[in-house]
Amino acid sequence: MTNAGALVDSHGRTLRDLRISLTDRCNFRCLYCLPETEAAQNFYRGHWAHLPNSTPIVQQWVEKSLILTFEELERVVRLAVGLGIQKIRLTGGEPLLRHGLEDLVARIAKIPGVEDLAMTTNGFLFAQKARALREAGLRRVSFSLDSLDRDNFKKITGRDGLNELLESIRLAQELGFSPVKVNAVIIREINDHEIESLVEFAREHNLSFRFIEFMPLDSARAWQKEMVMTGAEILRRIRARFELRPIAPDNPSSTSKRWGFADGRGEIGVIAPVSEPFCGHCNRLRLTADGKIRTCLFSVAEHDLRSRLRNGASDADLTGWLREVAWLKEARHHIGEPEFVPPPRSMSCIGG
Ligand code: 5AD
Ligand code: SF4
Repeated sequence: MTNAGALVDSHGRTLRDLRISLTDRCNFRCLYCLPETEAAQNFYRGHWAHLPNSTPIVQQWVEKSLILTFEELERVVRLAVGLGIQKIRLTGGEPLLRHGLEDLVARIAKIPGVEDLAMTTNGFLFAQKARALREAGLRRVSFSLDSLDRDNFKKITGRDGLNELLESIRLAQELGFSPVKVNAVIIREINDHEIESLVEFAREHNLSFRFIEFMPLDSARAWQKEMVMTGAEILRRIRARFELRPIAPDNPSSTSKRWGFADGRGEIGVIAPVSEPFCGHCNRLRLTADGKIRTCLFSVAEHDLRSRLRNGASDADLTGWLREVAWLKEARHHIGEPEFVPPPRSMSCIGG
């Protein structure tokens, strides 16, 4: 790879990280992503009765024929790596809903230049596929665990899946996925009372645990800045109970500030995209399940790769086009500003 061909944007950033959503569908219905029922919405609204009546996104699942095939995805990854992409993260929706996921992992893992291959999952179906995925070449996995209380977990995710998830985390560690990361989205008055027990859990199991601020990506459009537990608040709460030691970022584009503990067990990170945006060093590009390139989580426009893939574009056409698209990457998001417009699709379509 020569740098002349790299994906650079007009703000001087070089893009190295491609996040691929394998499906917009999910077997969970997290409040902050795809709340399902009126009860789920009332769960918010009960706490935040002053919410304006914002218009929810009507979730329309992408038709199967529009979802990129494994062959198409393999081609895209090969071209992206030729353009300097080093990290691939498979996400969703829930990536484990994609049949034969291990075949895709094997194809991607074999591409020279893929330095890091990871997956983000809700963990519910992970145990069944864990061995096959590991053998296929998946090295890293991130789970979402927002609560250790069975009832609260069910309220937040819409599913009674805490035990399955805990078993998946255990198995991932046993099989040598490394690091096993666990993410929690903290929403005020929904699960902020569990911060300390989540930290205890991370320490007990020697996990890399990430606390994430709630972003306006939910399909109910219920997000309000009052609901965001900021990174600073989360950290203050943790420090009141635990003595933390800063850990250097794992790479310059890292989104989380990391902390360790005096006894070396467990590690936590705080990801604060709302209160402390890290757009200036964001090196990510996203591909939706239906083949649209998104240059930012909060992009309002998407770039249609699928039609190009299916209309006979050559490799040279596609790489030229990808470089043009990368150039357009937005400088930053505008959350909290008057002109902020949330993206037209929820996180399950965009890919976390
Ligand atoms: N705000 C913050 N994080 C979110 N995720 C999904 N929706 C949101 C949101 N509105 C996270 C989940 C998961 C990853 C895919 O994205 O926690 O770990
Ligand atoms: Fe599914 Fe992930 Fe969205 Fe939860 S956050 S509904 S697990 S895609």
